[in-house]
Amino acid sequence: MSSFIELIDPLKRAALGDLRVAPDLAALDQARIAYLGANGKFTALLKQLGSLPKEEKPAAGKLINQAKTELETALSARRTELELKAALPRESTDFSLPGRRRILGKPHPLTRVTDDIVRIFRKLGFAVADGPEIEDEYHCFDALNTPADHPARDTQDTFYLAAPTAAAAALPPASRRFLLRTHTSSVQIRVMKKQPPPVRIIVPGRVYRRDNADATHNPTFQQIEGLYVDKQVTVGDLKGTVEFVFRELLGQEVKLRFRPHYFSYTEPSYEIDFSSPLVRKMGKDWLELAGCGMVHPQVFENVGYDPEVWTGWAFGFGIERIAMIRYGINDIRLFYENDLRFLRQF
Ligand code: DAH
Repeated sequence: MSSFIELIDPLKRAALGDLRVAPDLAALDQARIAYLGANGKFTALLKQLGSLPKEEKPAAGKLINQAKTELETALSARRTELELKAALPRESTDFSLPGRRRILGKPHPLTRVTDDIVRIFRKLGFAVADGPEIEDEYHCFDALNTPADHPARDTQDTFYLAAPTAAAAALPPASRRFLLRTHTSSVQIRVMKKQPPPVRIIVPGRVYRRDNADATHNPTFQQIEGLYVDKQVTVGDLKGTVEFVFRELLGQEVKLRFRPHYFSYTEPSYEIDFSSPLVRKMGKDWLELAGCGMVHPQVFENVGYDPEVWTGWAFGFGIERIAMIRYGINDIRLFYENDLRFLRQF
């Protein structure tokens, strides 16, 4: 049966030819099935091996196994080639297309307004001070001349924190109760206790109140506090400074009005109203903007400054109100929802 052995080589060549030129993975698989599949031509030859005469089997078996290895090597080589080709970019790639850009974030509108205010005050020689958001009653109220039974505490109700820490046991009673600060005014006390006069600071920061959220209220919001202490400071200094800052910030057409008011840590005290073409567009003549006044002598006493020698003014206002005017936003909650459709507009 020498004819069996003669069949092997031509079939192997035909198979190698088909495997090597298969144009894609599907064609390669078809070629594999045609030769090496269960009913393939090469498999058929293998099956015949068993029926060969005994003396021919070793030589035929050796040949056929060699051929099979060659076919399998060719198959896997072509498969790798075709897979690589499939993974490469198509020839039609347009290299003149713009590249992929990283999306960069940008400052929140409240941060931008805060930065602008800080920049303006820096021109006047003010430094930025900072204080804790978890404050104690002493710094937030008592030292600011607002004792426990003072009605002003109702309007600034806030979130109190549970048990005081062990470290707090050594403090005077008013300092043992912790709360989320209701205003940045507490930092006035912290700064004055730490440094001798004169003082020229602003304090941007987050504050908290027990308010229900609506278009103009949010349980957390941002304030900027200002404090100026020196000899012979007057209400004129206060007005001049505030006017300069708001005109820089919101335009030279801005008009300000000082209305008598009450704060326990200033005397006299005022509220500042603001008018501009933007405010009139909102259908109002004046918009309430800030509280301010001349630092109360009792506050100076509390921090160890001599009220006979030192005088000063202070103010505090909300950043959101300014940002709402500047950008024409009518709902304070938008600042805190982190909705990208809103934030991307700035
Ligand atoms: N702390 C006041 C508030 O949150 C604002 C304020 C009023 C701050 C008068 C001051 C001031 O420094 O002198 O409503």
